[in-house]
Amino acid sequence: MSKISIIAAIDKNRAIGFENKLLFWLPNDLKRFKELTTGNTILMGRKTFESLPKGALPNRRNIVLSSNASFSCPGAELFSSIEDALANCKDDEHIYIIGGEGIYRQTIDLADELCLTEIEAEASEADAYFPDIDANIWHKKNRDARQTDDKHPCNYVFVDYERRR
Ligand SMILES: NC(=O)c1ccc[n+]([C@@H]2O[C@H](COP(=O)([O-])OP(=O)(O)OC[C@H]3O[C@@H](n4cnc5c(N)ncnc54)[C@H](OP(=O)(O)O)[C@@H]3O)[C@@H](O)[C@H]2O)c1
Repeated sequence: MSKISIIAAIDKNRAIGFENKLLFWLPNDLKRFKELTTGNTILMGRKTFESLPKGALPNRRNIVLSSNASFSCPGAELFSSIEDALANCKDDEHIYIIGGEGIYRQTIDLADELCLTEIEAEASEADAYFPDIDANIWHKKNRDARQTDDKHPCNYVFVDYERRR
């Protein structure tokens, strides 16, 4: 079975985006995202793909979901269902689900782990949210707290959750 991880940056209200953009600019979060996903597979919704400033991300297998079979996503593979996309992944593949809201909601029950950046601030405006993290299902495995600095406008914590057995 492939390993499935969800990766997201969420604020205090579990907000993740506004008008198809991220809410906070945290270079260390982007760095961790790159470190974890490079060499692996990233799976995303069509809107998240459209939000990527330079299109498909390099040195990773990019998978995009859309009901529009003619959606153009150079550098990425297009699938029309999560089931089809996962069926096209190999057993030794590590799949990172990278959003957005719709995809997180549809895949959280399939995921083995959540790799979250919990931002200790509230976005002024948001229209996309991460689903509820049920403590009966998810166990906090690692916690790495980081303080605000000249490049990071607020405190944030890298938190990994694993599914309880
Ligand atoms: N903070 C974070 O870590 C983070 C990460 C990623 C994204 N975001 C934010 O999340 C927001 C976008 O989330 P969103 O929910 O609006 O969009 P999304 O999940 O990125 O994309 C939604 C689209 O994906 C396609 N789709 C969804 N489920 C599908 C399925 N089962 N089969 C086939 N296609 C499917 C549909 O495309 P079609 O309409 O083409 O059929 C749907 O409109 C943005 O604000 C973005 O910035 C935040």
